[in-house]
Amino acid sequence: VLTGAGISAESGVPTFRDADGLWERHNPMDIATPEAFRRDPALVYRFYNARRTQLARAQPNAAHEALARLQRDFPGEVFLVTQNVDDLHERGGSTQVCHMHGELLAMSCTACERSMRAGGEFDGSSTCPACGASGKLRPDVVWFGEIPYHMDAIEMRLAECDLFVAIGTSGLVYPAAGFVRHALAAGATTVEINSQLSEVTDLFHHQRTGLATAAVSALVDELLQQ
Ligand code: OAD
Repeated sequence: VLTGAGISAESGVPTFRDADGLWERHNPMDIATPEAFRRDPALVYRFYNARRTQLARAQPNAAHEALARLQRDFPGEVFLVTQNVDDLHERGGSTQVCHMHGELLAMSCTACERSMRAGGEFDGSSTCPACGASGKLRPDVVWFGEIPYHMDAIEMRLAECDLFVAIGTSGLVYPAAGFVRHALAAGATTVEINSQLSEVTDLFHHQRTGLATAAVSALVDELLQQ
């Protein structure tokens, strides 16, 4: 199961590319690249501080909870990979979540190269709780031009999957947008759940157009009844 920003939209976490999405209000090249962080770290810290505050007010929705139910009750393995940096899958009850684009509630230190759980606010003078270096912490999220996390584990699961479900993702950002091709090559059935058709919709055997809360819950009910 691959999830994108659309699964968290009904929890009040804005998506990137919908009307009023994050990339409508900000140029991603000013925020989500290593160059942007070097050029204007204060802007990047402010952006991620605001997103952390917003996330603290959000609650997991029925779609997050349905996927947790699927992971718990399905008599086979369910591997969940998300492009989302929020923690709503975990708070919805999922115990295995692969965060390929990192996590909003983690920081990494460019001095000691450790990654750590860290909520709250950060700025250019924050010190690393692990090594004490000052001004070396960055959000532990994957920016444009960086390699997503856990690609080996993801590719291994794609090579052996028999059902691939993509939920709430526009299909515009690679490598995630290409996962459906790997799944097809492995002989999987592919299902897209989205409020509108994605850029890669033609690669899916089935489209379920609708809001994630209703459509994911319905799919999980069907899978658990089979
Ligand atoms: P996008 O904002 O590109 O796409 C969100 C998708 O969710 C769209 O296709 C919407 O139609 C759909 N959607 C919105 N609300 C929905 C709802 N309630 N139910 C179902 N679908 C809904 O977000 P992503 O595809 O996740 O990367 O974006 C991929 C990556 O681009 C992000 O991880 C981020 C961004 O730049 C980085 O920051 C590296």
